[in-house]
Amino acid sequence: MASVRLDKFVSSSLAKTRSEAHLLIKKGRVELNGKVEKDIGKKLDPENDVVTCEGISLTFSKYHYYMLNKPDGYVCSTEDIKDRTIMELLDEKVRHYNVFPVGRLDKDTLGLVILTDNGALAHFLLSPKRHVDKKYYLETDLPMTEEDVKKAEEGIDIGEKHLTLPAKLEITSDRTKAYITLHEGKFHQIKRMLQALGKTVIYLERIEFDKIKLDPDLKRGELRELTPEETESLLKNMAL
Ligand code: URA
Repeated sequence: MASVRLDKFVSSSLAKTRSEAHLLIKKGRVELNGKVEKDIGKKLDPENDVVTCEGISLTFSKYHYYMLNKPDGYVCSTEDIKDRTIMELLDEKVRHYNVFPVGRLDKDTLGLVILTDNGALAHFLLSPKRHVDKKYYLETDLPMTEEDVKKAEEGIDIGEKHLTLPAKLEITSDRTKAYITLHEGKFHQIKRMLQALGKTVIYLERIEFDKIKLDPDLKRGELRELTPEETESLLKNMAL
């Protein structure tokens, strides 16, 4: 990792503003490799240098990654003039990192949303060329059929220039409940696909994004950091 200024290191690892970090450093609360360091612009190696603040060892991450279990009634954007946004569900520390959602769920769709401040990764994962898998659980007003499974596999006309890409529809024993895996993300895509098949989606929840599964222990509205393995699995895509 490239070298990092001491003030950036402190502000990022403690989720403080740059001026709060300056104050801590200038007051002599921060040590670099065992010695008080008051130079806010001191360059350091984030992987090998040891930084402590009031005796507590700090670790630096350039980027931050979270999963949110989105509840009903929140829009997936950073601001909205009329609706509540998922940003209202984040605590101050997470907001401080300026994270944003990787893609959008509808206001009434629940489940897995990835948030990050790594713009390059978000851009990469959302690129239409990437076809990242997204799996949803859905319920419809009317039972789904084998013919619907076939049509989802062949592509459905939802009024766009092209048919939808092949999607895997897995109907459960209760034929109004199913799982669907998409490789693209058009506006209201699942609702429009099911509408074209003569059904109305009455419940929709994203349960997987790429290889990341919605944590069953995460309550609606709760957020947790991605584990190193989950983060690694997302970043691996970029190296392919
Ligand atoms: N498809 C939809 O119709 N809505 C979503 O929120 C996601 C996929």
